[in-house]
Amino acid sequence: MAQPLHLYVLAILLLALSFTGTSTSTHNYHGLKSLRFTLYQQETINKTVYLIVKGVTGPDISPSTSPFGSLFVNQDLLTVTPNSSSKVVGVAEGASITSRLDGLANIVVEKITLDMEHCKGSISILGTAHNIEVNDLPVVGGTGDFMFVQGYITPSLVTFENPSIVYKIEFHLYWPPYMANHCCLIDENGI
Ligand SMILES: *[C@@H]1O[C@H](CO)[C@@H](O)[C@H](O)[C@H]1NC(C)=O
Ligand SMILES: *[C@@H]1O[C@H](CO)[C@@H](O)[C@H](O)[C@H]1NC(C)=O
Repeated sequence: MAQPLHLYVLAILLLALSFTGTSTSTHNYHGLKSLRFTLYQQETINKTVYLIVKGVTGPDISPSTSPFGSLFVNQDLLTVTPNSSSKVVGVAEGASITSRLDGLANIVVEKITLDMEHCKGSISILGTAHNIEVNDLPVVGGTGDFMFVQGYITPSLVTFENPSIVYKIEFHLYWPPYMANHCCLIDENGI
């Protein structure tokens, strides 16, 4: 069986949060308060991500493709830098299903639990990830300090050294006006 690049897809899941000051910013965007930061998703084939069901037709499993209907499940740590030894601030748990006959895209469902200095809770992701192109995945909701949050995440591959995969996850989160005084938005950068 080929490499786990299909995991690549999982990238979606990805999430790495780096709440390092330089990568965190808050803005007022058309009345919506926003928070942007970057984290790194640490994934290891057959340890934190598995192929559960191999699909029925289409290309075989490779770094960029998987058979139609393939199901992958992951539980990955999110760290503040690409180094897997760096501080862990979150967990990404979810699944992806190959949803195109050419094997190049997956429907992704992911719950990302975050435990950062001023923000604790989870966000839920639902979208389609292309295995080669970088695309955005919608945030469909959240819990805790991320209650009512909207926005998207942008996962991208940083390194793939079989069996280890590192994804960069950029978070673009927006709170509606009635949550404008939320604690997540107060302390970073003095805003
Ligand atoms: C990752 O971090 C550890 C612990 O701080 C350090 O020993 C190691 O050299 C780092 N690895 C890389 C590739 O920078
Ligand atoms: C993961 O496990 C599967 C099933 O045992 C095996 O075919 C595959 O080569 C393994 N991949 C890696 C990178 O260990």
